[in-house]
Amino acid sequence: MTGTRFGRIEGGNMSRRKVLLALIVAWTWSGHVAEANDNGSFESLGPLFLDDSPEMFEFNLLDAVPIPLRDPKTQYVDESEDGFPAFGFRAGADVKMAYKQILPDVFSEEFAILINAKPMSRNGGFVFAIVNSMESIVELGVRIAPENDTSTVLSLYYTDVTSEVASHILANFTVPKFSHKWTKFAFRVTVDNVTLFFNCSETDTVTPIRKPLRLSFESASALYLAQAGPVIGGEFEVGMSVFFF
Ligand SMILES: *[C@@H]1O[C@H](CO)[C@@H](O)[C@H](O)[C@H]1NC(C)=O
Ligand SMILES: *[C@@H]1O[C@H](CO)[C@@H](O)[C@H](O)[C@H]1NC(C)=O
Ligand SMILES: *[C@@H]1O[C@H](CO)[C@@H](O)[C@H](O)[C@H]1NC(C)=O
Ligand SMILES: *[C@@H]1O[C@H](CO)[C@@H](O)[C@H](O)[C@H]1NC(C)=O
Ligand SMILES: *[C@@H]1O[C@H](CO)[C@@H](O)[C@H](O)[C@H]1NC(C)=O
Repeated sequence: MTGTRFGRIEGGNMSRRKVLLALIVAWTWSGHVAEANDNGSFESLGPLFLDDSPEMFEFNLLDAVPIPLRDPKTQYVDESEDGFPAFGFRAGADVKMAYKQILPDVFSEEFAILINAKPMSRNGGFVFAIVNSMESIVELGVRIAPENDTSTVLSLYYTDVTSEVASHILANFTVPKFSHKWTKFAFRVTVDNVTLFFNCSETDTVTPIRKPLRLSFESASALYLAQAGPVIGGEFEVGMSVFFF
């Protein structure tokens, strides 16, 4: 599927490189944050990161979805607004894999997470979560809070399991509610800052203390899509887009 078009871990020194997690590959962002070329890879990442090291590893978390879909009751193929195929997840969907099958052991200091999602309910949930082996702590993840009449909150989880015993939220961003609307958003994590891009504009920057700068995951960690596993929960009824080849 999409895997071959994405950067894979080919040895080499990760330290100067950045990790890009994508839950989309079709990315038409009028602010030119990142634009997919027509074979689906992200090309113009310069504006996302200000330095001049464009080398990027790209990992598509939707590669975790087994094709053909295992359970048509809880997973379905949808279409995003751009006309690109998308995966849909209903309550009870169970898409889980060892994080090592998709992601590097140690994250780069700076990274970005790009998401194109259409929440199918107002309840929110986890877009994705990498959880420790006990499945009790979210090491890295993105959660959408239940929305109220006007807004919702996007939370970026980032937890050092070697020093913390509970999930840690690195940044919260209040945004307009967007259930039932395809919406693109991205987190750019630099050494100093976490910046949210939402619906085509850079909306907010926070300056949290982030320890360590290079997150390492427990070796038995699992990657969940549209939930954070049976212990933490956070089931998310959502469509997420992906580009098929
Ligand atoms: C796909 O993208 C890569 C990276 O930009 C480019 O070198 C290559 O020519 C593209 N392939 C096609 C078939 O467009
Ligand atoms: C909705 O939630 C946001 C974020 O938590 C909050 O700032 C806002 O006051 C809430 N609005 C209403 C109408 O409850
Ligand atoms: C984010 O929001 C959650 C829930 O309201 C709160 O517990 C947490 O302290 C907040 N974290 C930050 C970094 O703002
Ligand atoms: C995103 O922007 C479009 C065009 O400006 C607007 O129609 C839409 O309501 C916005 N979505 C959200 C969730 O604010
Ligand atoms: C971090 O954000 C602040 C405030 O927006 C900005 O002045 C600063 O240049 C940013 N630092 C980096 C490294 O992007």
